[in-house]
Amino acid sequence: MSRARHAAGRRIDNLAKWLLKFRIIAAPSRWIANSSLTWSVVSRMDRIRTLRLRDRIKSADEDLMPRHISMIMDGNRRFAWNQNIERDAGHAAGKERLKEVMRWVLDLRIRYLTVYALSTENIEERAGDELDTLYDLYVTGLDEICADPLIHNNRVKVQVVGRRHLLPERVREAITRAEAATSQYDDFLFTICLAYGGREEIVDAVRNIAADHASGKLSLDSIDPEAISSRLYTADLPDPDLVIRTSGEERVSNFLLWQIAYSELYFSDVHWPSFTRKDLYEAIDDYQKRRRRYGS
Ligand code: FPP
Repeated sequence: MSRARHAAGRRIDNLAKWLLKFRIIAAPSRWIANSSLTWSVVSRMDRIRTLRLRDRIKSADEDLMPRHISMIMDGNRRFAWNQNIERDAGHAAGKERLKEVMRWVLDLRIRYLTVYALSTENIEERAGDELDTLYDLYVTGLDEICADPLIHNNRVKVQVVGRRHLLPERVREAITRAEAATSQYDDFLFTICLAYGGREEIVDAVRNIAADHASGKLSLDSIDPEAISSRLYTADLPDPDLVIRTSGEERVSNFLLWQIAYSELYFSDVHWPSFTRKDLYEAIDDYQKRRRRYGS
């Protein structure tokens, strides 16, 4: 029995080798793989799967939808290396992706979106020419965002938090323009963390508390978590429900340290410029399957 099976296996193997020799399989396979028809079938199936996922997360119980999503947009440079393009083109692709993600989040009617676009450590450690590229991108990006009809139709308030004095004047001016153009809105809040560090934010809050205590405005007994939360840059935001970090790194890198005490963390292997709508939905789907414990 087993000898017969071996013989049949050998015969199939030889037939496959013979077919490959005459390119009978390789040529049509290559044609199928490269054809626009296959591509269109595959992308259509992917689109259907994405829309199904969207329906599923939207039809879940209302309190299962995260109210506040925050994102660590990592992997612009690795994306550029992988694609064999310039580092700056990677950052530019990251900016374009951010505008897309903003659309997808708005479509889900998620009220708060917060993104980490530049840390205080980035300012200290990145080369001058890379920082200049990033600063130019923030200027263009902020101007594009606040000219976007989507922002105005959905009444999205745009705000930037962080140590602004560390940023060049052209960026500070763009921030002022974006904030002024959207200050009257309050349906959605889009927060961009620039020159931001979680520890620095806590230090600033503690300094504020110390000053209020010294001036007699705040007694020792009144210093509680609420006193700290209300002095953070993000005082007007609920804590994030879900933190998404792209590019495979599993750490929080000084992002919203106080605020993410009870957040759910989700790490995606995809580099930020390649992060798709489906990746976002998968993160939310995963979040909806978790049971939040809030430390209990
Ligand atoms: C981290 O990837 C990304 C940054 C330091 C910059 C992120 C900036 C944008 C996505 C543009 C944002 C635009 C606006 C308008 C706010 P990395 O450079 O550390 O890449 P790596 O992890 O591959 O080294």
